[in-house]
Amino acid sequence: MPGNVRNPLDWLGVETGGEMRYRPPAMPILELDALAAYVSSLNTVGRSPLRAADGALTADGVAGRALFQSLDCASCHGGADFTDSTSGSLHDIGTIRASSGKRLGQTLSGIDTPTLRGLWHGAPYLHDGAAATLDAVFDAANAPDGTAHAVVRSRSATERAQLVAFLRQIDDREPAVPGAQPVPWTSADLGAVGAAGSTAVVGSTVTITASGADIWGATDEFRFVWQPLTGDGTIQARVASQTDTSAWAKAGVMIRGSTNPQARHAMTVVTPRNGVAFQRRLTLGGSSAHTAGSRSAAPRWVRMRRSGDVLTGAESADGSVWTDIGSVTIALPQPALFGLCVTSHADGVLGTVVFEQVALLPNGGG
Ligand code: HEC
Repeated sequence: MPGNVRNPLDWLGVETGGEMRYRPPAMPILELDALAAYVSSLNTVGRSPLRAADGALTADGVAGRALFQSLDCASCHGGADFTDSTSGSLHDIGTIRASSGKRLGQTLSGIDTPTLRGLWHGAPYLHDGAAATLDAVFDAANAPDGTAHAVVRSRSATERAQLVAFLRQIDDREPAVPGAQPVPWTSADLGAVGAAGSTAVVGSTVTITASGADIWGATDEFRFVWQPLTGDGTIQARVASQTDTSAWAKAGVMIRGSTNPQARHAMTVVTPRNGVAFQRRLTLGGSSAHTAGSRSAAPRWVRMRRSGDVLTGAESADGSVWTDIGSVTIALPQPALFGLCVTSHADGVLGTVVFEQVALLPNGGG
């Protein structure tokens, strides 16, 4: 960087209105070019010295790239920067520890996915530097069973080394990986929940952490993860697990008129100790009604279907044989919000629910 970058700007102070004033620089054009080149270099990571002499991926790197694709790493580390950061979603992939601190004064619910360009520049890795090597990112201590990075441990030592070889060769020359689709779901806590929830979407698995007093009576407190859908449609999912924060904690599928906490809706939910329930509110701010389904707890499949103005709730043990629990007629707006709902039924206490094989099917299919 040229040595006299600061000096030639003849500082004249700040004008009223905040505009900064300086005399046009007497800097040689060549130095301005060098400055421009330096500034744009801040946006790049350079070239990995671990690539083959001709700049291509090594054989291990090529094998590692194929694994990266088949392990679906790009569902979070996708796109030009190998991150879904611009989608705004945070992910809890088991790396958050008590020492990780808070985010904006709130509970740290997830970590922004880091770019994977430039990893060869050096250790340590992960937000708190817990991984001394790239390989250690995938150890059980940093990737507990069932979390996104743990899948690497199901591969052979050779494959794991190939994956790491690829990671260390992702430089400016590596093209963008397809797969970072913008997350189509919108999520929010509705009502005055006592603790903020979070949502993590990986393919068709949606993990929701939520608080909230209940979805019942005149107004609701819960976390809702939805997509708008016009016309007939079905939302279904397998509630794989649910934290038992209360006998009446609720996790299921909902069709709702709006994000107003008092909105009309119908839902089919699983509870830890009160079985499956089909519940609804027919008028804005009105009371709720209940129809009991089976006595099952998670894992259990739940479904809501809209056909015209008729909303029907159903449940299933296996996702193929369905039993209707009840139906109700509510003239919801077009589009209506089709989504997943979770309340811990213990306001201020967070419970976690894992939904698998979440499917939103237009035109009443499924
Ligand atoms: C569910 C989203 C998700 C998936 C899928 C995922 N990652 Fe990550 N990855 C993250 C997040 C979030 C972090 C940051 C974690 C932290 O810092 O605590 C991370 C961090 C990393 C890091 C450390 C980067 C650094 O600079 O510290 C590597 C390497 C990595 N991931 C590789 C992979 C590979 C390889 C796969 C596929 C097997 C994969 N990831 C799948 C979300 C994901």
